[in-house]
Amino acid sequence: MEQHLQHPVFKALADIANMHHIEAYIIGGYVRDIFLDRPSKDIDIVVLGNGIHFAELAGKHLRSKVAVFKNFGTAMLKFQDLEIEFVGARKESYRSDSRKPIVENGTIEDDQLRRDFTINALAISLNKENYGQLIDPFNGITDLNNKLIKTPLDPELTFSDDPLRMMRAIRFASQLNFTIDEQALNAIKKQKERISIVSKERITDELNKIILSDVPSVGFKYLFDTGLLHLIFPQMAQLYGVDIINGKGHKDNFYHTLQVLDNICEFTSDLWLRWAAILHDIAKPATKRFEEGHGWTFHGHEDKGARMVPKIFAQLKLPLNEKMKFVQKLVQLHLRPIVLAQEVVTDSAVRRLLFDAGEDIESLMLLCNADVTTKNEYKVKKYRNNFELVKQKLKDVEERDKIRNWQPPISGNDIMETFGLTAGKEVGLIKNAIREAILEGEITNTYENALEFMLEKAKEFGLQPIKR
Ligand code: CTP
Repeated sequence: MEQHLQHPVFKALADIANMHHIEAYIIGGYVRDIFLDRPSKDIDIVVLGNGIHFAELAGKHLRSKVAVFKNFGTAMLKFQDLEIEFVGARKESYRSDSRKPIVENGTIEDDQLRRDFTINALAISLNKENYGQLIDPFNGITDLNNKLIKTPLDPELTFSDDPLRMMRAIRFASQLNFTIDEQALNAIKKQKERISIVSKERITDELNKIILSDVPSVGFKYLFDTGLLHLIFPQMAQLYGVDIINGKGHKDNFYHTLQVLDNICEFTSDLWLRWAAILHDIAKPATKRFEEGHGWTFHGHEDKGARMVPKIFAQLKLPLNEKMKFVQKLVQLHLRPIVLAQEVVTDSAVRRLLFDAGEDIESLMLLCNADVTTKNEYKVKKYRNNFELVKQKLKDVEERDKIRNWQPPISGNDIMETFGLTAGKEVGLIKNAIREAILEGEITNTYENALEFMLEKAKEFGLQPIKR
């Protein structure tokens, strides 16, 4: 802690506090992260009295511009690579229908008491008489050591004051691999419905932070067990459960999905690839059938799942852009490498996969690898070996045929010029036929071969090249 307090900015703030007889403290996430050894650039300063006034004094002293947010009673300045936010110590109470509090001035302890978790309610004094002293009235350090998410107040009040904190509790548990205190957990279960007053964007922000944690299943299990998941993302909660007919069950797709998600997190920190893992089997409940003599099937869940992706993205206020398209494509294709790995791998099947996956082939292979969650060691080994085979084949075929960024060797324009056609059905048919021939391996991916093939094919349509 001493080392952090050496930063000239803290000395400067302490001087200002001393000069103007104002009590000031570092508080919240920055203090927590010192003890967790997670360096942070966001510093929160709380002062007894007017936070904006103190920020303006600090701005003058540090020659930094101050941004004032009058409505919130806060101000912010940037100094070097740090972002420092100032607020007056508050004593708050909330109305039941809004996240906006009624605020009065308070003591440092009042302010700490109204914060979300004991680990976020730690403060360090910047005052002359006890500079650098840790102020920890709610045993935040003990909870840090015990890896516990606990509220300073009765949790019912903390969560009812600001229901976003239910998501934050689960997010911190997932990021830090902490346990949520039992009383707090029960309070979330009881008050989950109040999440409805929180904006979708903020809920999804927290959800994405859970997804970006090292082992996101920690967070998702909490979301499911508290019932929050059913409210914020019901399609995922519906993956839960096993049906049994004639003594035959299927795997629980909720826990399978979590396993796939945890697996892929070992190989990628890409949020969207992680989303693809979450959504890969999302349509299994909707496509589930029991077929006599065969057992459980989920035919077409990849197609239906891909169609569900835009709806889910819109519902969660995730971007409806190329990220969504990427997730959709992976959901659509997620079975393809597995199917390949189960069969004799032909060049044409590999070329088709490369053609459909394009630039995203590596992501797709990661997803498929993560999708192997069977406990049967023999099966795991078989799949992994076959995947290696598929990967090698992908490499060989790509080196030879360059399908990954495939551009037709003969364009629509070439076809029109050759046969004196205007844009229309025939041009498309010939183009498709050339593509199919290349993917099937009937011809190589070169202009000469494609030209020859085109002239032959065109005869079937009764077309002759025009003379020039
Ligand atoms: N806080 C709170 N209730 C909230 C949000 C924030 O009590 N709903 C308090 C906590 O004391 C928190 C501090 O405000 O530590 C700063 O909040 P924020 O910057 O959102 O989070 P951090 O705790 O800094 O964590 P992170 O940066 O990982 O989001």
